[in-house]
Amino acid sequence: MSETPVALIILAAGQGSRMQSDLPKVLHRLAAVPLFAHALNTGRSLDPEAIVVVTGHGAEKVGKAVAKFEPEAKLALQSEQLGTGHAVAQALPLLDGFAGRVIVLFGDTPFITAETLAALAGHPAAFCVLGFEAADPGRYGRLVMGAEGLEKIVEFKDADEATRAITLCNSGVVAADAAVLREAIAQLGNDNASGEYYLTDIVGIARAAGHRTDVVIGNEAETLGINTRAELASAEAAFQARARAEALENGVTLSDPSSVWFALDTMIGRDAVIGQNVVFGAGVTIESEAEIMPFCHLEGCHVSSGATVGPFARLRPGAELGGDVHVGNFVEIKNSLLHEGVKVGHLTYLGDAEIGEATNIGAGTITSNYDGVSKHRTEIGPNVFIGSDTILVAPVKVGARAMTGSGSVITTDIPADALALGRARQVTKPGLATRLFEALRSQKVKD
Ligand code: UD1
Ligand code: CA
Repeated sequence: MSETPVALIILAAGQGSRMQSDLPKVLHRLAAVPLFAHALNTGRSLDPEAIVVVTGHGAEKVGKAVAKFEPEAKLALQSEQLGTGHAVAQALPLLDGFAGRVIVLFGDTPFITAETLAALAGHPAAFCVLGFEAADPGRYGRLVMGAEGLEKIVEFKDADEATRAITLCNSGVVAADAAVLREAIAQLGNDNASGEYYLTDIVGIARAAGHRTDVVIGNEAETLGINTRAELASAEAAFQARARAEALENGVTLSDPSSVWFALDTMIGRDAVIGQNVVFGAGVTIESEAEIMPFCHLEGCHVSSGATVGPFARLRPGAELGGDVHVGNFVEIKNSLLHEGVKVGHLTYLGDAEIGEATNIGAGTITSNYDGVSKHRTEIGPNVFIGSDTILVAPVKVGARAMTGSGSVITTDIPADALALGRARQVTKPGLATRLFEALRSQKVKD
């Protein structure tokens, strides 16, 4: 964390035409969250005072996704994409009165590290860019260094042969003192090969006004920008490789690391065991010593210490599993709180429910939580025994220590300690099976 206050500007107005997509580029998912969320999430490590996201292509959709991920973020609309400098100019009015350090990130550049951002935030130069030594400098802007730090940035299109030979490149990420940035951005022109307002031209303007400009050198992997689906796929692979290695380092057992898929925010405690082919969507926390058996899908849920899940289970948003809960195969749980020691072993759907401590949910139980219009809650007390194939038609409550008979359809509340049977009474006809078979067989011979 830096001492001077920080504001983030995240540029996310571009269409990303090379994605060949109707979806704005920054909404394509990486590690189960939209692409822009990666840079934003890392930016949060600076404890920013304000966050502004610049939207343009698909502004409405992007704005909604931003609000969901970071409700505090402000949105600046850039209706025409006239360049990175123009994009920042759209954001600055939303930072009126802010006097600290502004960090500009690209929504399509996900892997920037917190350490690098801290270095940029704390750097004494009034304007500082993140540079890197490019293995293949391609079309990146080139950083021209002089006796006093960064002299200028030349875009590839505007560079002569000698400048193109420079391998120190601009990642696009910059940090600037707010006052200097405001003053300089007003002076940007677009007299260049692209006819765009280049953020990179701030260097020359700031220097002419007597400010110091410099470079923080990062590593090429963190400056990787996503432009195509192929790049998105390799970024996903790179993210997963790192997440798997980190989990192992943190003391998590992964039976087959390459088949476990993490989200940006997956949190797993020490000595948890994750089996083969487990996929984590966004928002999952697994406490220490829990076990997720093979072939499970988890999203937006919390699994407490000692719980076991799967194989073949699905935990959906709002599933909250207490200590030592057991969730078995072909069980789906959504928006439900299972207190300590609940057992739900087989073929069950629990939605919008609360299940008390040590209750046993029989195979094939279903909370019928949706009437076609609204969702309703099921509340089951502690130490209850729900018989196999019970349908709980919500809203409904089952008191402590109650029981339901197998195959019951429960439509009214059950008081504590009661047994509820909601099924047709059994009728048994002695010898009728034999007579029926005989009749059916003789019929078949005639046919
Ligand atoms: C930019 C840099 C270049 C650097 C490269 C690194 C400038 C002028 N050039 O070039 O030096 O090497 O990034 O990848 O800054 N965007 C907007 N609105 C706009 C234009 C861009 O929001 O009007 C966003 C894009 O959506 C994207 C980011 O800014 O996320 C970068 O834009 P892009 O056009 O890719 O910049 P480059 O030309 O690659
Ligand atoms: Ca680019």
